[in-house]
Amino acid sequence: MRVLVSGGAGYIGSHTVLALIEAGHDVVVVDDFSNAKPTVVARLEALSGQHIPVHAFDLTDVDKTAHLFGIEEIDAVIHFAGFKAVGESVEKPLEYYRNNLDSSFALLEAMRRHDVRRLVFSSSATVYGEHAPVPYEEGFAHLSASSPYGRTKVMIEQVMTDVALATPGQRVALLRYFNPVGAHPSGQIGEDPQGIPNNLMPFIAQVAVGRREKLNVFGDDYPTADGTCERDYIHVLDLAAGHVAALEHLDDMAEPVRAFNLGTGTGTSVLDLFHAFERAVGRELPYEVVGRRAGDLPAFWADPTRAHEELGWRASRTIDDMCADVWRWQSENPLGYPD
Ligand code: WQD
Repeated sequence: MRVLVSGGAGYIGSHTVLALIEAGHDVVVVDDFSNAKPTVVARLEALSGQHIPVHAFDLTDVDKTAHLFGIEEIDAVIHFAGFKAVGESVEKPLEYYRNNLDSSFALLEAMRRHDVRRLVFSSSATVYGEHAPVPYEEGFAHLSASSPYGRTKVMIEQVMTDVALATPGQRVALLRYFNPVGAHPSGQIGEDPQGIPNNLMPFIAQVAVGRREKLNVFGDDYPTADGTCERDYIHVLDLAAGHVAALEHLDDMAEPVRAFNLGTGTGTSVLDLFHAFERAVGRELPYEVVGRRAGDLPAFWADPTRAHEELGWRASRTIDDMCADVWRWQSENPLGYPD
């Protein structure tokens, strides 16, 4: 299929572009490069050996988005594009609602105008909110979120569901990720957060490469085995494979819309991940336990049974694989992608 990947120059998007090409699909990327570097595309072309058409514009522009569907033959859409920093969304809620919702509306409108009926949406485990029983199951009905970012995901899932129910033949997969980490084993593409990393893995990687003094562990007084929070870390290559599996499953889906958890089904603590990274680097790294971060939940992870059974997909890479691949990426690109 010819697949439009929105946000295809981003961390998960770029790894999914590679996986799509390796699975025999053609890819078109649209990205406004507000949170990605153009270098990524050159590296994707080098890794895939293929030319990758790229359209650089803001998807909230309905006319430009519809025009794109007129000039590119699109069979399916994988929608990654969106702002995704939880803390930033609290400071800039209007920007987050406008960008994340309007870009989704523009895509859905363009799909309708051009009769494109296959859609995979990059959602998030954050839609389970603070009260879902762990492990999270897709059938949990009371979706909610504790940040404007998370609430955009809840709202977009609802909009896509309603549109799918009203559009004969449309098929939508809502992929709820947990904590994406890792990098392509080539060391050529990886996570490259702008500024100080919010997330754990890239922060540890920047400590290891000397860009940060030490890791601040946000609390070790949680009700968990070692007192630090537990999360379901999933290798970005497993996540990319999950997107390909969902895309290729759409035409066989009985329901118009279906959510799938993409996770390993196991929790790993902050300190366990940190020590795994030390093993990858081959030396001890500095950390300090500080106060809790507001909003953090002690522990959650996925029940990935539905993806196993219906997509034939299963995460396979270990925490040590994730750390080794991140370390290769970070040590070969100490400052991330060049401008
Ligand atoms: C993991 C653990 C921190 C940084 C976030 C988003 C979520 C999703 C995935 C988009 C927590 C601890 C972190 C640090 C630390 N993104 N930590 N020191 O919060 O589980 O999920 O990313 O969908 O929406 O909320 O991931 O990596 O930020 O934190 O101790 O410098 O690491 O307290 O326990 P999180 P994270």
